Amino acid sequence: MRDVRFGVRVRLGAVAMAVLALAVAGCGGGDGGDNATQNAKSAPAPKASGDVTWCIGKDTTGAFSTMVDRFNKQYPNANAKLLELPTSADEQRTQLIQRLRAKSSECDVLGIDVIWTAEFAGQNWLLDASKITDKRQGDFIPSTLKTAEFDGKTWGVPFNTNAGFLYYRTDKVSSPPSDWQQVYSEAKSKGGIVYQGARYEGLTVDFLELLYSAGGRITDDSGKKLDLDKGKATDVLSFMVKGIDDGAAPKAVTTYMEEESRRAFESGKPAFMRNWPYTYALDKKSKIGSTFAVAKFPAWQGGEPASVVGGYNLAISAYSKNPAGAAAFIDYVTRPEQQLVMGSKAALPPVLGSVYEDPALKKALPFAAELKKAVEQGQARPVTPVYPQLSEAIYKNVFAALQGDMSPKEAVDKMADQAQSALETF
Ligand code: GLC
Repeated sequence: MRDVRFGVRVRLGAVAMAVLALAVAGCGGGDGGDNATQNAKSAPAPKASGDVTWCIGKDTTGAFSTMVDRFNKQYPNANAKLLELPTSADEQRTQLIQRLRAKSSECDVLGIDVIWTAEFAGQNWLLDASKITDKRQGDFIPSTLKTAEFDGKTWGVPFNTNAGFLYYRTDKVSSPPSDWQQVYSEAKSKGGIVYQGARYEGLTVDFLELLYSAGGRITDDSGKKLDLDKGKATDVLSFMVKGIDDGAAPKAVTTYMEEESRRAFESGKPAFMRNWPYTYALDKKSKIGSTFAVAKFPAWQGGEPASVVGGYNLAISAYSKNPAGAAAFIDYVTRPEQQLVMGSKAALPPVLGSVYEDPALKKALPFAAELKKAVEQGQARPVTPVYPQLSEAIYKNVFAALQGDMSPKEAVDKMADQAQSALETF
């Protein structure tokens, strides 16, 4: 199955690459210099034209519409438009796949969660984006570029990266604890910890952060073979279940995604929250704005701190009627000026190393240095075209245990069986 699919992609790829080569020739070189640094610092040539529809998750921070406005101002011959998908990563994927299966040309630029690269590329839904990244290779944080690669090619351009952080209330907690066990024990008497416990991708991330920290993993490095230490996974899941049973985490976390966790934290009750950096800018404007801080993740007791790299890459749909406009749009929003706007105004983590040195970013995000380190050293989720099925095997069973429908041991046994079946389909 693999070979057949890839064979088709190679044939399609030749046409797509020719179109893209033309597209990218029209952007990036307008300053007359081929030098990567010079390219990175200057705006691309004003060659973009035509309609460009950008389909990406909900614009919670307002940063996406700012990018569209700035692009349209810079390129009077182009008309970019934002098409917002749901907030949940899983629902975004479903909606994109519906369009792609129908060969719809509605979306030119696709906002792809870093975990979908292998699947979308394997299905021939994306154009090869190497031409955009090639000249700017050295500018991207290497771990971000890696998330856009599959099967020896680059299928998207890193747009925002991500790493989770521990938010805590400075009026309730004197200093952030150094391990998760202490976080939960303090949480119990100080208003709780909130995280993403709903039945979706966010729960896989939250579980993996603890599992990786405890020294466990899901697959081997190839992403093809299950390598789950059931003992470690059961310890981590038992800890999460106990957290809810003890009242360290409210029962309602099983309904929370990122936004629900943010709103709960901003309500003032919880002492801790696990969330991505984007909530920082919004939390600052809330009533707890002056009484919270952000810390890097603690370790699992006896283990090491671990983060899971998240984020979105921008890819060109194989069905776009304006791949040149799409390429110009992607090139523009991943340039330092725009990345700085997104990082400093909306706390969306930049993908370019240099932006982290900018005083405006450091001022807006006091944890910028920690963030860069977390992104550089963070661990990827397994890279495989069947990632969504693999992740479902994780979050479905973690969720069942959190709900009290299964014991942690039973849930981990099921997780392992279903993850194995998912991997066997590839
Ligand atoms: C964030 C991350 C993304 C992750 C998702 C899970 O959007 O950037 O990588 O899959 O959260 O909810």
